Amino acid sequence: MESNHAQRKNEHLSLATKLYTQVHTNSLDNMQIIHHSLPEISLKEVTAATSCGKLKFTSPFFIEAMTGGSQNAYKVNQKLAILAKKYRLAMAIGSASITFHDQAAKKSFSVVRETNPDGIIIANLSAKASLEQAKAVIELLNANALELHINTTQELIMSDGDRDFHWLANIESLINHLDVPIIVKEVGFGMDATTINQLQSIGVQLINISGRGGTNFAVIEDHRNHLTNFDFLNDWGQTTLESLLEARKVRKKTTQIIASGGICSPLDVVKAGILGANAVGVAGYFLNHLIRDGFDALDKEINNWQVTLPRLLALLGCRSFNELASIDFVLHGKELEYAQQRHLI
Ligand code: FNR
Repeated sequence: MESNHAQRKNEHLSLATKLYTQVHTNSLDNMQIIHHSLPEISLKEVTAATSCGKLKFTSPFFIEAMTGGSQNAYKVNQKLAILAKKYRLAMAIGSASITFHDQAAKKSFSVVRETNPDGIIIANLSAKASLEQAKAVIELLNANALELHINTTQELIMSDGDRDFHWLANIESLINHLDVPIIVKEVGFGMDATTINQLQSIGVQLINISGRGGTNFAVIEDHRNHLTNFDFLNDWGQTTLESLLEARKVRKKTTQIIASGGICSPLDVVKAGILGANAVGVAGYFLNHLIRDGFDALDKEINNWQVTLPRLLALLGCRSFNELASIDFVLHGKELEYAQQRHLI
């Protein structure tokens, strides 16, 4: 019999799959890239590699934090790690808080490093984690970076979630005392300019805006809740496109922006790059391929993304992923309205 925490991890995996298509709307659909017919480039000149500060990615997209802590999570993490190794993708793992009170849970995390000894592996913890906890998890995974998730919406919907959100001082202290790069990330509710400024003011240089439009933890946690009903929060937060526009306005030169939230095609990766993302995380879409369609289907899908991305860069006349930031685009519908009201364009 698995612990309550491990069962919660299993519920997240199954609900993230069951609910995925029902909640999927993609803000990036309201962005139109301007096509230029004469890009004056050869595909040979193009590289899709990118970097986020000290982290060097051979591919602009990576597997974003999802799971760990149960037997089912072990299997999912092992399969994702095999593909991360095969395609040289960076991979973040789900929150490792469970390992502090459940020793048996550790192997569902360490399997990722065992499977992919030389890959870029990103550990994940809550923004309230202590320095000792952060060091333990980095050591467990021999992690190249640590994500600290900020998930107020999710915690408040959970019946047994956190109720104290004084996080900034702790994040600042962790940044000052850890050697690996620290990424601060949302979990699918997006960020605004104020949040990004708060993070920048305490020295955060890697920010994952993780916006609304894909996996929706308001909906997932609401399904797990039997006493209260929070379905009025189903559309809470900024979309990925809105969050990237917010970030574009206030980011410092030293800030690296990571996009995630609803990314489900190489074109979405490119659009995020045009909006200034330095790298792009994918969670729910890959999980759904793996769980619904199987390992081989996800293998094929990732292969397709890797073949397609350099061609899309060539289509846009970009030799590298970061050159996308100068490509023209127009916005339509809700996203245009948002950008105008927030003075983001
Ligand atoms: C997540 N996500 C997540 N994020 C995090 O920082 N720590 C975590 O432990 C988890 N756990 C988790 C479980 C499952 C099953 C999913 C699908 C997702 C959130 C994830 O990293 C990402 O921020 C959001 O899911 C938005 O991206 P997608 O899913 O729309 O691509």
